[in-house]
Amino acid sequence: MSDILLDVRDLTTHFRRPDGLVYAVNGVSFQVRRGETLGIVGESGSGKSVSVLSILGLIGENGKVVAGTAEFEGVDLLKLNRHEMRAVRGREIGIVFQDPMTSLNPIKRVGQQVMEVMLVHRLCSKQEAWDRAVALLEEVGIADPHRRMKNYPFELSGGMRQRVMIAIALACQPKLLIADEPTTALDVTVQMQVLSVLREAQVNRQMSTIMITHDLGVATNLCDRVIVMYGGQVMESAPVEEFVRHSAHPYSRALKSSILEIGSRGRKIAPIPGNPPVMIEPPRGCPFADRCLLVTDRCRDEIPDLRIIAQEHVVACHRAEEVLEHVAQ
Ligand SMILES: Nc1ncnc2c1ncn2[C@@H]1O[C@H](COP(=O)(O)OP(=O)(O)O)[C@@H](O)[C@H]1O
Ligand code: SF4
Ligand SMILES: [Mg+2]
Repeated sequence: MSDILLDVRDLTTHFRRPDGLVYAVNGVSFQVRRGETLGIVGESGSGKSVSVLSILGLIGENGKVVAGTAEFEGVDLLKLNRHEMRAVRGREIGIVFQDPMTSLNPIKRVGQQVMEVMLVHRLCSKQEAWDRAVALLEEVGIADPHRRMKNYPFELSGGMRQRVMIAIALACQPKLLIADEPTTALDVTVQMQVLSVLREAQVNRQMSTIMITHDLGVATNLCDRVIVMYGGQVMESAPVEEFVRHSAHPYSRALKSSILEIGSRGRKIAPIPGNPPVMIEPPRGCPFADRCLLVTDRCRDEIPDLRIIAQEHVVACHRAEEVLEHVAQ
């Protein structure tokens, strides 16, 4: 059995808009190994969500995956029809999105919603589904699960609703869990609790996880490996220890120093100067060029390829070696 559970290669997704084509994801490749947590990090608009939505067949009508493969246990998900994809989504791959209020059905009891996913995939009888749903609610830290089964989403707090979403995602014992900004809509104190529920489930079930976040701190705390995205491309990928000590992309360094700023000032996020690229034009040169302090003419002309600079550490920057040597961490 291959150690690689999900192997995404050269994924490219565009959207049609009245003002032109949006180059949302441009040749993204990454792998997820069995049992590991992969963090995908980047500012808003960098193509994180579209990358996973493309793999799951969930991009809207105006979107199109124009190139790439996404092999899940050797089967290319991009070639599945709707029916085949439904058998994978929710069963083999569990998904937790940012906002549980829009993902949960407001007029159905939460217990019924947890049971439904098991019944749709014909995993067990109704009675068994009830018992399993109670156990799942307990696993995600919901007290008095028998009573909570009968609640409607509006009767629960935001944190509780997200726990229910996690229970639904775990219900079919997926091999891969994809969590897209799962705590962004929650209060800071609740965020940590929900993240630890996810981490515990991942460890106990030895499940692979993709954790999408704009928060580098979340990624470095929870993940085994980190991918940094910008302008619909992978800028850097490395095991987390290597990334923390030796990140070699100016954008990764900038993300890190914005964390340091938060820590030292205690509150305000110091944004990276400049704006993310407008994705309405095809990328030419390095997407980070307009904001990079090390930019040269070559950067503006030539898209930097992802290069290996250490074991399992790849970076897309013409000047990565200099970043490593000369720029202080
Ligand atoms: N349905 C859509 N139609 C047009 N553009 C879209 C659509 N969905 C996403 N995009 C664009 O694709 C790019 C990547 O978006 P997204 O993957 O959601 O970013 P992230 O998750 O990293 O914040 C953005 O420029 C966004 O505006
Ligand atoms: S390729 Fe050039 S512009 Fe892009 S990150 Fe590296 S140094 Fe900066
Ligand atoms: Mg997103």
